[in-house]
Amino acid sequence: MTDFDIIILGAGAAGLMAGIEAGRRGRRVLVVDHARNPGEKIRISGGGRCNFTNVNATHVLGRERFLSSNPRFALSALSRYTPDMFVERVKKRGIAFHEKTLGQLFCDGPATQIVSMLIDDLRAAGAAIWTGRAVGSVEKTETGFRALVGDGYVTCESLVVATGGKSIPKMGATGFAYGLAKQFGLAVTDTRPALVPLTFEEGALEQLKPLAGVSTEAVVGHGKTRFQEALLFTHRGLSGPSILQISSYWREGDTISVDLLPELDALEFLQSARKTQPKLHIQTILSARLPKRLAQLAGDMISQKGMIGDLSDKKLMAAADQVKNWTLKPVGSEGYRTAEVTLGGVETRGLDAKTMMAREVPGLYFVGEAVDVTGWLGGYNFQWAWASGYAAGQAA
Ligand code: FDA
Repeated sequence: MTDFDIIILGAGAAGLMAGIEAGRRGRRVLVVDHARNPGEKIRISGGGRCNFTNVNATHVLGRERFLSSNPRFALSALSRYTPDMFVERVKKRGIAFHEKTLGQLFCDGPATQIVSMLIDDLRAAGAAIWTGRAVGSVEKTETGFRALVGDGYVTCESLVVATGGKSIPKMGATGFAYGLAKQFGLAVTDTRPALVPLTFEEGALEQLKPLAGVSTEAVVGHGKTRFQEALLFTHRGLSGPSILQISSYWREGDTISVDLLPELDALEFLQSARKTQPKLHIQTILSARLPKRLAQLAGDMISQKGMIGDLSDKKLMAAADQVKNWTLKPVGSEGYRTAEVTLGGVETRGLDAKTMMAREVPGLYFVGEAVDVTGWLGGYNFQWAWASGYAAGQAA
């Protein structure tokens, strides 16, 4: 039997941060992961460049950028561990970074720099890390918890569950946290893949497939929610940041809208083209603003044939509406296989917002993606992992 003050299950973003902070407070910490290498999702994140935070994560608008049954829950931890605080670490370590777009901070070089920084900080804080060891049963004892790790038991006063969600099972994602939460009487919301490409039935795919590889700036909407970012056509349907974002809001049976000409008054554009280039077809006119293959599809959708000079205002209005408000009905998503995150998780009402400790189970903490807090694309999810890990690391 080996004894620790704190055992942290999961050596991902949230678990490493919790381990560093608890270790710095002089606590005897063990971080355990069943994967051979810690921080694997950090390594592959942001296309290998790790979008490690978003400068807007604690902006007043930040609140709507974290989805949860209780969107206010995340604010306490987020306001006590801000993007600036993580940026300070990155600067101190000498890791070069840049803002790509929309407040998203990426490493200039490989994401492994962030993993190495966290591992070095963890070791410097005196914490132990065991990788390649499966966690078996976990039970409550009189003084804390006892867990079967590999083939031996370890005990601790506080247990921090940082095992993430279900996305990318190939990388070791298990949904382990949800089972453990239920074992200790905590509620877990429904969970579903989020930040994930959307798929379409065969009929719609026939239209979309020929465009596979084409990317364009678009506004993608669901209800009142709108995202203006790149949209990518794939062999299975649609992807790209605007689609990943809207996937967190879309539900089976719903439609999404796509504006292929954001920031352009399409009717005015077509009317002006009618005056200046009356002998051209709409497809040709649209190809000045859209990738050629997409202009072809838009032209086919519009179904106003002939020269633009021959089209009435009413027909131009219908055409403009079709490109500004293209309605599509996805049938599903690519699922956890490619989803960046899991929407939903351990219900926040069972947790203390300041410490992440289970209200009814002293010493038991849940942090990171395992909790029902899901950020937008763009560094919000790592900021939540750092902030919730920090909160638990300060308290446990
Ligand atoms: P995380 O999943 O990182 O870590 C959990 C750890 O627990 C893993 O190491 C796992 O092996 C371990 N584990 C699981 N079950 C276990 C068990 N039973 N026993 C022991 N260990 C167990 N976010 C962002 O902000 N910016 C970005 O650029 C990206 N990019 C990105 C790309 C891709 C491809 C993906 C899949 C995801 C992203 N994300 C992202 C999301 C981000 O990676 C995610 O939100 C965080 O990694 C969540 O951190 P956690 O520490 O909570 O879980």
